[in-house]
Amino acid sequence: MDHLTLTRPDDWHLHLRDGAALAAVVGHTAAVFGRAVVMPNLKPPVRTTADAVEYRERIRAALPAGSRFEPLMTLYLTGTTPVAEIDRAKASDAVIGVKYYPAGATTNSDAGVRDLNEARPVLERMQEVGLPLLVHGEVTDPSVDTFDREAVFIDRVLAPLLRALPRLRLVFEHATTREAVAFVKDHAQAAATLTPQHLLLNRSAMFQGGLRPHLYCLPVLKRESHREALIEAATSGSPQFFLGTDSAPHGRTTKETACGCAGVYSAHAALPLYAEAFESVGRLDRLEGFASHFGADFYGLARNPDTVTLVREPWHVPEGYAFGADTLVPFRAGETLGWRVAPEARA
Ligand code: NCD
Ligand code: ZN
Repeated sequence: MDHLTLTRPDDWHLHLRDGAALAAVVGHTAAVFGRAVVMPNLKPPVRTTADAVEYRERIRAALPAGSRFEPLMTLYLTGTTPVAEIDRAKASDAVIGVKYYPAGATTNSDAGVRDLNEARPVLERMQEVGLPLLVHGEVTDPSVDTFDREAVFIDRVLAPLLRALPRLRLVFEHATTREAVAFVKDHAQAAATLTPQHLLLNRSAMFQGGLRPHLYCLPVLKRESHREALIEAATSGSPQFFLGTDSAPHGRTTKETACGCAGVYSAHAALPLYAEAFESVGRLDRLEGFASHFGADFYGLARNPDTVTLVREPWHVPEGYAFGADTLVPFRAGETLGWRVAPEARA
């Protein structure tokens, strides 16, 4: 097979940043994806529907002329988010979900929730009105090993949460472990996004021939048996697992340093990377559901009306992209991928 035409995909987990960084990256996503769920972890975070509407305007203003790309906005849950904000979000045409970052878990998460009980009335209202909770699923307890933080989060936070709120719609963002896959399969109201790097790599890749800061993201890459569970879930045809790149741009100087930022940038090559992962297990036939159908179905949105075509053709990934005053080093920089998106499909 040399061509693969599929319904235009959507990215259900994306970091676009703001200002010059936004302008530098948004075109990559908008060229291929119809819509993306935009994460709210700006500085300061996107806390209100009014913030989200303004941020959506800035994203639209940064799009290439003629682009029909649609940003789907999220709110950043804090300990002081009022219940009325959920009603405003639900009534808006802008906000699609609320993101829960455990305080201190990842990039720009200082404003996150320390104890989910603080947010109980807000979560109850979300359950009532059917607004999904998007979860960064890691505990921040420093005594828990970094590689165990997702599994411990399920036991300590997520399982009790869904016992208390059994109808809360939940997206387990960037799931990285077999425990997360099992948890999602066990809960019909839950779904998970899966990133290209967690489908393609295990944790040894971070140390291949030396330290690889551009492969460091959170949740961190896990061991091979977890990667296999993720690939199995992604290619199973289950509508509970869908595409979310977690493409998270950071300038080279903030990655290649003594204490580097977490985040892998994959928006430049997202669909070819997923195609590579699906092809590695002979399941290219399941890519369309994962990339283009199941996310829209979960969020109750129409699937995109048009298509994109992947072509089996070597595509050389640049060493870097301009990123304000810095450089952005993309996933697979300087390497050659086996698939690329046909140019006529670009916006
Ligand atoms: C994300 C970022 O840079 O905003 N980083 C990451 O490693 N994934 C934050 C996040 O999604 O955790
Ligand atoms: Zn993210």
